[in-house]
Amino acid sequence: MEFTKRILITGGAGFIGSHLVRLFVNKYPNYLIVNFDKLTYAGNLENLSDVDQKSNYRFFKGDICSPEDIQKAFEEYEISDVIHLAAESHVDRSISGPMEFVKTNVIGTVNLLERARGAWSEGEHVFHHVSTDEVYGSLGETGLFEESTAYDPRSPYSASKASSDHFVNAYFHTYGLPVKLSNCSNNYGSHHFPEKLIPLMIHNIQNNQPLPVYGKGENIRDWLWVVDHARAIDTIFHEGRLGESYNVGGLNEWTNIELVRFLCRLMDEKLGREKGESEKLITFVKDRAGHDMRYAIDASKIEKELGWKPSVTFEEGLSKTVDWYLNNQGWLEKVTSGAYQEYYQKMYS
Ligand code: NAD
Ligand code: DAU
Repeated sequence: MEFTKRILITGGAGFIGSHLVRLFVNKYPNYLIVNFDKLTYAGNLENLSDVDQKSNYRFFKGDICSPEDIQKAFEEYEISDVIHLAAESHVDRSISGPMEFVKTNVIGTVNLLERARGAWSEGEHVFHHVSTDEVYGSLGETGLFEESTAYDPRSPYSASKASSDHFVNAYFHTYGLPVKLSNCSNNYGSHHFPEKLIPLMIHNIQNNQPLPVYGKGENIRDWLWVVDHARAIDTIFHEGRLGESYNVGGLNEWTNIELVRFLCRLMDEKLGREKGESEKLITFVKDRAGHDMRYAIDASKIEKELGWKPSVTFEEGLSKTVDWYLNNQGWLEKVTSGAYQEYYQKMYS
């Protein structure tokens, strides 16, 4: 079959990447989808077991820190487009070990940009960089992050993502590389590694373990269902303007403590527990260093220009998410055995 696009999706074995790969493989049988992933602790090919036999899917085990790996994948599959998600993604890990974030998120991104610049001298191409709202810093009680908000990253993770965004924009202005950027708020959904708030709480509620809420639990995040983020990337990749950034968010702000309480109520119902039983597990622990207070996205640009908006309410999305974890115990057991235990002890003991 002659494929009309040959897209390299980096980080396709991770949380968001696997949802994006699934969407593209199923929706675009005329595109070749190459999942380029190093398979770090966060990458898991089981996330793609429902699509990995499709004829338009390939897996390439590679490291974006290696220009040779990238070149090999570009040549082997004649890559026409890139959607770049591969990254070190967890803020707490960036606090205990920032250098890995510089290597993967900054140098890895520049390696990819360099290869795309070298390979794409003619024809139509897109380099879509998937980034985060954390590059904008921290909000007070009011206001929203807009695309024009000045960058003010405050954690090693967000500093590395901000730096990668700057490089992507620099390649557009300097070399005319056809780039697009998206900056999204907190995602939740199935296949989410249980180091992040929602899957960690689901796992601990189920196992009657303490629910570690940082500080007073007053920090605010804007939550979006991961499938809606994948839909937004699809829309921007196909219809967004070159050289532009698009903010993606759920208009769905929660303090951490209210969110954890909501999850407890939902899981009490699903697990047939007494009302209020799971809430007793809530434990306030030492705050995250430099903990950003509030993130909130103004997503009016993508809504007005490209017609995207979230497809589910938080209640629906969270209920589906909890059901997925309860029905996929094997997945959770596998990812929480071994190295996860060591990480958990270091973080929370
Ligand atoms: P994740 O940690 O679940 O997955 C990251 C993936 O990248 C893994 O499959 C991992 O194996 C791969 N990877 C890591 N280092 C690599 C390397 N050197 N070479 C090749 N592959 C490598 O991350 P996620 O939560 O799915 O996030 C994906 C992207 O979306 C990231 O760029 C992140 O900054 C961004 N983002 C995440 C969120 C969120 O809420 N999770 C929100 C906005 C933006
Ligand atoms: O905003 C987008 C970002 O969202 C992404 O770019 C990041 O990759 C992603 O990890 C996420 O970052 P956060 O730091 O907001 O997500 P996390 O799930 O780690 O934490 C959410 C909130 O919950 C945050 O205020 C810290 C708090 N928290 C987290 C954990 C893991 C707790 O109170 N207890 C915990 O155990």
